[in-house]
Amino acid sequence: MRHFLSSDDVTPAEQAVLIARAITMKNSSKTMSRVLEGSSVGLIFEKPSTRTRIAFETAVFELGGHPISLRAAELQLDRGETLEDTAQVLSGYLSAIVLRTFGQERLDALAETSSIPVVNALSDLEHPCQALADVMTVTECFEDLSKVTIAYLGDGNNVCHSLLLCGAKAGIGKIIVACPKGFEPIEPIVERAAAIGMETGCKIRVTNDPVKASTGANVLYTDVWTSMGQEEEKEVRRNVFGDYRVDFKTLERAAPDAVVMHCLPAHREEEISTEVMDGPRAVIWQQAANRLPAQKALMEWLVTLDGESRKDGRRVR
Ligand code: CP
Ligand code: NVA
Repeated sequence: MRHFLSSDDVTPAEQAVLIARAITMKNSSKTMSRVLEGSSVGLIFEKPSTRTRIAFETAVFELGGHPISLRAAELQLDRGETLEDTAQVLSGYLSAIVLRTFGQERLDALAETSSIPVVNALSDLEHPCQALADVMTVTECFEDLSKVTIAYLGDGNNVCHSLLLCGAKAGIGKIIVACPKGFEPIEPIVERAAAIGMETGCKIRVTNDPVKASTGANVLYTDVWTSMGQEEEKEVRRNVFGDYRVDFKTLERAAPDAVVMHCLPAHREEEISTEVMDGPRAVIWQQAANRLPAQKALMEWLVTLDGESRKDGRRVR
């Protein structure tokens, strides 16, 4: 069974096909593919969501299927039914399960007994659906990905992890992450992205110096300093991340063709200034819009994989 729990669950070639398909879908009729006709997809959210949930509901609908969105508290999960038992039951009704959750091990548990594809709609570790739309957006903005440097400024979090893996697979020229000490992306992901980069020509760098990272960069990317589930650390984080804000000065240091990205939701005047967010270099709304075709292409691919592809599916982690 093939799942999409990590940006590392697809090969570089498969990812390229997915992104190309997403671009085709974006520029075609909404209902060009009806692969989910007569099928239902379960969307379970243990954390809030605007983009991911609405994009998945719309994607499933446009593919001809029926999306069933549920907060975990509405399920017996909340009363102690295991994820493994839930997956076995839902496999009898649905064509795929999408889960937004906390620990990555919750996705692993669901996938363990699921006989239908499981998709990570964000965990504390990764946000692979976001990264697909991010690399799709970079592909739309720049002709030659091998000449693009992405500078990610801020917290080495789930969004950063998936961007590293997905960007490395896409053959982005360089991804440089600048974080305060103690907030860097985790070592196994940095090492894995670097290993992928050896094959695709992507250089991976991590620094504590936001000026060095942003100087000459073609893409400035940031995310919130306090992710969902870290609310208690909010004050500490606000004090630590100040130098990593993306504002007009950061943009001045970047390449003349630089674009600004943010996965959203944003905290204006924290990790990004309103001036930059609403300014001409931001491609943030395009990036948000791309969540729909990216997730549509992903769902189509997962439910139409033939037996051979499923059997060969590599689970890299
Ligand atoms: N970027 C993103 O995943 O947004 P939501 O939390 O609104 O889904
Ligand atoms: N890092 C953020 C991303 C939100 C889409 C979080 O996990 O809350």
